[in-house]
Amino acid sequence: MNAVDLIGAKRDGGELSGEQIKWFIDGVTSGAVASEQAAALLMAIVWRGMAPRELATWTAAMIDSGRRLDLSSLSRPMVDKHSTGGVGDKVSLVLCPLMAACGAAVPQLSGRGLGHTGGTLDKMEAISGWQAALSHDQFLAQLQDVGAVIAAATADLAPADRVLYALRDVTGTVASIPLIASSIMSKKIAEGTAGLVLDVKFGSGAFLPDPADGEELARTMVGLGAAHGVDTVALLTDMDQPLGLAAGNALEVAEAVETLAGGGPADLVEVTLALAREMAALAGLDADPAEVLSGGRAMDVWRAMVAAQGGDPAASLPTAPVVDHWTAPSDGVISRIDALAVGVAAWRLGAGRAHKEDAVSAAAGVRLRRLAGDRVAAGEVVAELHTDDPSLLPAAHQALSSALTLAAAAAGPRRLIASRIP
Ligand code: URA
Repeated sequence: MNAVDLIGAKRDGGELSGEQIKWFIDGVTSGAVASEQAAALLMAIVWRGMAPRELATWTAAMIDSGRRLDLSSLSRPMVDKHSTGGVGDKVSLVLCPLMAACGAAVPQLSGRGLGHTGGTLDKMEAISGWQAALSHDQFLAQLQDVGAVIAAATADLAPADRVLYALRDVTGTVASIPLIASSIMSKKIAEGTAGLVLDVKFGSGAFLPDPADGEELARTMVGLGAAHGVDTVALLTDMDQPLGLAAGNALEVAEAVETLAGGGPADLVEVTLALAREMAALAGLDADPAEVLSGGRAMDVWRAMVAAQGGDPAASLPTAPVVDHWTAPSDGVISRIDALAVGVAAWRLGAGRAHKEDAVSAAAGVRLRRLAGDRVAAGEVVAELHTDDPSLLPAAHQALSSALTLAAAAAGPRRLIASRIP
């Protein structure tokens, strides 16, 4: 078998055989397939797509590239959530302890952010002392005792995805339904969860902005989950505007804690509770997530889960030495704040990384003071820009230059949850 034949076949619109796919994924994992050949095949897949049979084999080969965790010893019902990535998306920080407080075990193996979307681990690392790396035994013990774990995926979990995702990130091959679906589902299936709720984003801040693409991605992932014995449900949610007010690591932790304390922005609460209800149903739990959240039990689990990983839940979060302002250019009612622009601005302020190995600033980011529906006057502050380095401010302002849409009158309320699959 050789990689050039596979690339040529896919380039010309052919279907790869099961043997070819397994050979390729094994070669990617071991390093036997050269990066440039893997990248060429990925680009051919972006253009040509994959037939359902190819995608099933590709995903199974990615799962088999590492080990599949066995969490069957847990006495709590297991259920996890995954988001396809957005701006200000700190839902996991609230949902994971919330579902544990409802009685579930939530094995959240998460990643770091790349580009304009933030990563859950980067957010958690804003908490003094908190450690992302857990051994398998620590992971299992915390899941059983606390019910909630947010931790870094170990290197043996779908290792083929690590190689492919890093390549996709630098070769313009992220935005492909079969590649996103197999990447996410191989990791979630290998993680060993019994049930999975997917938050599939659409809108400017999502990897796939078109809602029709989001829906196809959701259907594809739900199908892959079912094929591998993981009960999977997806909600399609709006990522055209940031979720909540904060985009940036410590700023998002603060907002998540505010939500766990019974406050928090209405859109964040709505999306979190919609996902929580789906997770409760999949796990067969009777608890009402809204009651558990307002009763403070999710906050107790948050404190326990942070402390179990060395973090100090009472420690102050890092703050940025420089806070600048983004102001409205004229009078009007805000009809939209572009999620992608806010994500890029937060990233440029230091909250995100351009390369996998870059460090992120815990304190940097954007905090909105105004939202869609608010009336503003020219010169009024729409958002705070937090950074450690004032030389980063011009690039952040530039990202925000056309992010604000002002209208004469308020538009109708935003519909956050577009549909549920299946
Ligand atoms: N998140 C992933 O894990 N993989 C993708 O391909 C896109 C988002």
